[in-house]
Amino acid sequence: SAAEKGGWPSFMKKEISEEPEAIANTLRGRLVDGRTVIPELEPLEPVFADIDRVVVLACGTAYYAGMLGKYAIEAWARIPVDVELSHEFRYREPVLSERTLVVSVSQSGETMDTLMAVKYASAAGARTLSICNVQGATIPRESDAILYTHAGPEVAVASTKAFVAQATALYLLALKLGESRGLLTPESAEPLIDELTSLPEKLQSVIADSSERIAELAKWSADTQSVLFLGRNVGYPIALEGALKLKELAYIHAEGFAAGELKHGPIALIEPGQLVFVVVPSPRHTGSLHPKVVSNIQEIRARGARVIAIAELGDAAVVSSADEVIRIPLAGPMFEPLLAVAPLHVFGMELAAAKGLDVDQPRNLAKSVTVE
Ligand code: G6P
Repeated sequence: SAAEKGGWPSFMKKEISEEPEAIANTLRGRLVDGRTVIPELEPLEPVFADIDRVVVLACGTAYYAGMLGKYAIEAWARIPVDVELSHEFRYREPVLSERTLVVSVSQSGETMDTLMAVKYASAAGARTLSICNVQGATIPRESDAILYTHAGPEVAVASTKAFVAQATALYLLALKLGESRGLLTPESAEPLIDELTSLPEKLQSVIADSSERIAELAKWSADTQSVLFLGRNVGYPIALEGALKLKELAYIHAEGFAAGELKHGPIALIEPGQLVFVVVPSPRHTGSLHPKVVSNIQEIRARGARVIAIAELGDAAVVSSADEVIRIPLAGPMFEPLLAVAPLHVFGMELAAAKGLDVDQPRNLAKSVTVE
């Protein structure tokens, strides 16, 4: 009802505006004096030092959050991570042991594909952790431990604020695992914790500063047949998420690619007028992929593509290469994706709205898919 939307035109618009809060609430109370304080993880704490592998299981948007978790866990805890679509997982012969930590990510906690994969992993002796947004849902009940995201109820079918909360929870887990294995001390974790805690404010400014412009761009693009998204490293899951939102909400053919893969195929798709979003990594980070991504932009623009870059404030190189630049504040390499994703959520929503579609209830989709 209109009252529940609290004056917002859609639940989705309301929920995107709540992304900063979703991150803040998921962090609240869980970082104290340079350490993670997460009592819910206690059942698994004895095994954290011994696990030799993490497998993340999820579907849809949650799967892309899982991909971000892989970057963080591998970087901060040095444990190899596989991210798997739940429905693919148990239909091969996955290798699991009691030293495998299986982390399921599900907003609803009811997705049947993920539930069945968790049960399978559990029966095979793996330890299971559920990252979930709904208290008391089925997947958490079937798991050894639960790390709740505190995004608040998400009503719109396509996930937005739950995605940033899921990534935040996975980053907390990565910090926890890094501590358990003696790789992170309060001193070495401090810059990471500072980055995490400053995200909500930065994200707030991204949404405030870019939404109007993105809405205009979406209106102009209302008759677009296809949109491509490029990203590299942590920007890659964001490209996939941007594409998924456009399919789900605006029924437009969209694909996300790893920018490095462009020359191995996708560049053949580029025709004059093709709209391409590019998530650009900061040029400030050591070993930055920035020049490579800027050269990708130049290659596709030379073939007539229309490029909207999402890039850090002050990144001057993108101005001359892209048609349009959406700015995000400065952040550490692992944290940029949580700022870059909101403009893509807004774009999908605004394009759907420009086409007169119901952004909260897209056709053929369900908020939680409780059949396999
Ligand atoms: C459905 C929704 C997606 C969501 C996916 C996973 O397919 O349409 O938006 O990402 O389920 O949902 P979960 O509740 O497991 O996160």
